[in-house]
Amino acid sequence: MRDPARRTAYDVVLAVERDGAYANLLLPRLLRERGLDRRDAAFAAELTYGTLRWQGVLDEVVGAAARRPVEALDPPVRAVMRLGAYQVLRLRTPAHAAVHATVELARSVAGPKPVGFVNAVLRKVSQGSWETWVRRLAPAGDPRGELAFRHGYPRWVVDAFAAALGSDDELPAALAEDRPVTHLVARPGRMARDELLAEAGDGAEPGPWSPYAVRLSAGGDPGALASVRSGAAAVQDEGSQLMALVLARAAPASARERWLDLCAGPGGKAALLQGLLPDGGRLLAAELHPHRARLVADALGGPGAIVADGSAPAWRPGSFDRVLVDVPCTGLGALRRRPEVRWRRRPEDLDRLRPLQQRLLASALDAARPGGLVAYVTCSPVPAETTQVVAAVLRGRPDVEVVDPRPVVADLPDAATADHIQLWPHRHGTDAMFLTLLRPGRQT
Ligand SMILES: C[S@@+](CC[C@H](N)C(=O)[O-])C[C@H]1O[C@@H](n2cnc3c(N)ncnc32)[C@H](O)[C@@H]1O
Repeated sequence: MRDPARRTAYDVVLAVERDGAYANLLLPRLLRERGLDRRDAAFAAELTYGTLRWQGVLDEVVGAAARRPVEALDPPVRAVMRLGAYQVLRLRTPAHAAVHATVELARSVAGPKPVGFVNAVLRKVSQGSWETWVRRLAPAGDPRGELAFRHGYPRWVVDAFAAALGSDDELPAALAEDRPVTHLVARPGRMARDELLAEAGDGAEPGPWSPYAVRLSAGGDPGALASVRSGAAAVQDEGSQLMALVLARAAPASARERWLDLCAGPGGKAALLQGLLPDGGRLLAAELHPHRARLVADALGGPGAIVADGSAPAWRPGSFDRVLVDVPCTGLGALRRRPEVRWRRRPEDLDRLRPLQQRLLASALDAARPGGLVAYVTCSPVPAETTQVVAAVLRGRPDVEVVDPRPVVADLPDAATADHIQLWPHRHGTDAMFLTLLRPGRQT
């Protein structure tokens, strides 16, 4: 294959748009299958993630240079143009080399027809710098709209982040935080963190918040670690680890407690909860989709995973001491790892997800015994799927008490209020995870 890095980035960028693929799943697979060397793989990753992350600005630049909206282009040409504009404007590749390589890419994926167009438009793109294009194209007289454009986010996402942060002051820092990071968990009962640190070697350091977390510097390949391959360790955001830890630590655990993970796939939090169970305790990990339930079973490395619809449970009400309900959500809190999600999601998704999120939380409250604990978790900071879902469900459950999580995360600055925890990449170096702790009473 000629120019395997650009071709692989192209295949991923196209599949993200055309098939709804996730870059962080597809790219590593293609890199492995195609055997790209380290340098090409790093370039392909930079090109793929950068192009997807900055798609909003790139589309405006290409549209302005081509004098037609990118939506009017064929998907392959659109993908080529996005990649080309990204290289010309944001990488150190000399513009003429980037234009030449992109024209060749266009020829190989779309034939000779669009070659002249691609060449002419990219030359025009290269006549301005990133900054001049941004200044020219950012919406004028709309500070938040300009901020969104400049930082490469849809406006509605920035509005939602501002609502979650409570002001615009921190928005620039929150929007700028996009360094890709890899966090590992040393699963308790299966390996110690020090062993994982030693195995991961240079560039690995302990996570500051979770006693099981290890942070890898960019470039490390976690899949190469024997403990990750064996399941004793795993890739898991430190914020995600904290969500399971908070539920486990929020009250003293007595022997033989029964815990439920209501939405367990692919099993990261379930595996951590399993390692934190008290003596004689048992964990049930429910997942709707069979293929994801298999991943949960792998993560647990033993029994406990079942295929079940968590909103229509097969267990008796009040069966569990603690319940984790980590609901399907927009994923807008994990944009460092899935940069394309910001462009894929629409405000309508919130309306689509809300009824499911509310049903699952209501079901989690039913599953917990009176006086037990429920943790409602999302990997999104968007109020429509965090505080608003909790408020809507609690309107019908006057027996439920909101538990103050601050004592459980006393060492974590700027994370908790009396009624929830909200993590942020720019504050905590984690995904923007959300958690509310609830204690159901006796329903009358
Ligand atoms: C945010 S993910 C959970 C992540 C998981 N807790 C972890 O840490 O690995 C939500 C999961 O809920 C599953 N799900 C969606 N609807 C469900 C339902 N009605 N019952 C059970 N699981 C469901 C999805 O398939 C998805 O795997």
